[in-house]
Amino acid sequence: MTRVAFLPGDGIGREVLPAARRVLEAAGFKPEWVELPVGWDEWRRSGDALPATTLAAMRKTDAAFFGAITSKGPAEAERELDPSLRGKGIRYASPILRLRKAFDLATNIRPTQTFEGNPNNIRGAIDMVIFRENTEDVYAEVEAHPTPSELIEAWRKAGARSEDLPAAGADTAMTARVITRRRTESIVRAAFDYAAKNNRRRVTLLEKANVMRKTGGLVQEIFRKVATEHPRLETEELQIDAACALCVRDPRRFDVVVATNLFGDIFSDLAAEIAGGLGLAPSANIGAKYALFEPVHGSAPDIAGKGVANPVAAILTGALLARHLGDPGVAHRVEAAVAAWFKTGPLTADLGGGASTDDVTEKIATSLGRRANTATNVVKNRRG
Ligand code: NAD
Ligand code: IPM
Ligand code: MN
Repeated sequence: MTRVAFLPGDGIGREVLPAARRVLEAAGFKPEWVELPVGWDEWRRSGDALPATTLAAMRKTDAAFFGAITSKGPAEAERELDPSLRGKGIRYASPILRLRKAFDLATNIRPTQTFEGNPNNIRGAIDMVIFRENTEDVYAEVEAHPTPSELIEAWRKAGARSEDLPAAGADTAMTARVITRRRTESIVRAAFDYAAKNNRRRVTLLEKANVMRKTGGLVQEIFRKVATEHPRLETEELQIDAACALCVRDPRRFDVVVATNLFGDIFSDLAAEIAGGLGLAPSANIGAKYALFEPVHGSAPDIAGKGVANPVAAILTGALLARHLGDPGVAHRVEAAVAAWFKTGPLTADLGGGASTDDVTEKIATSLGRRANTATNVVKNRRG
């Protein structure tokens, strides 16, 4: 039997993930859910937001379904730690970043599409798929503060002004942008292969090679090489800043998009918002041996606990999970049910409506389970 690690995490993760599970089950997707703790409560209790037992249990599952986690700064993290653990130099690290590294989930796929009837969609029919490298770039955590003298020296050679060059480096922090051929080629190939298999028209690279000539230049070189293997696909190279402006002006021009980690992170939030909001945006983190599925949004502390979060991002993420685990029929039914819901509502507050998470979940789940659960529905309807 298929086993799926179920990690609601923090905040609205605990509201939207069970909602998505309910919808998946109504669509006939019933794996063994292995519920595991992760997130801020674990940090406070044990000093580890991603317990070793959770990691070990995940290794015995086929894939993970993840909600959201809350991250806070070092001072607040220390303050909220159990008193017995304070002052021991225990550092908080984001579980989602650790999971991406632990399972080498190098490919982050963020489908960004609009649905008819979505009042937040201000720019027409968008249908892009963003491929974001998920492990390196500035996420490689090669950072220094204070900065060691070799790096200060490199900076001096690059033309730093003498008044900026501190004696000991204490007033300078640096984060390295790490780009490898292997991982870049992997994400670029994933984007091109997806485009070829899904009859897409064009692949667009987002970079900033006019400034970061070494790292951006390597990415560009790899993109051009892989492009020659796909003569039927149009290709395009945009500077990330110009791409953001174009995305606001005309997001429909984007088809398959590929980017390094940070640019993909930023661009995917921008595109998601233009397509209707974070409450609708799903994502998949894919590795060679494991995959983790999570909505793009975070724990949304501003609305957590109120029962008003939009569960659709998590529900569409569930469809990606089902498709990955070999059940495209479930994925299709769930996506169709979401599309139908946009036309009838009721909508959540982020879409200008007044419906609760439960209202939306019930509406979508009921439409999926109509044939299987006719009797239950009749009883419900009679009660009003
Ligand atoms: P966020 O995505 O949690 O929220 C941004 C805004 O979007 C908020 O106004 C929120 O109410 C709204 N929003 C998000 N999801 C929604 C939904 N499903 N329905 C309706 N409205 C929704 O981002 P943030 O506020 O920058 O971060 C909050 C916390 O989440 C932080 O601790 C951050 O580190 C963490 N975070 C985690 C992840 C993750 O788990 N992958 C991703 C982003 C942020
Ligand atoms: C995302 C999030 C994460 C990221 C954060 C929570 C570390 O913003 O999944 O897009 O930067 O990748
Ligand atoms: Mn992000």
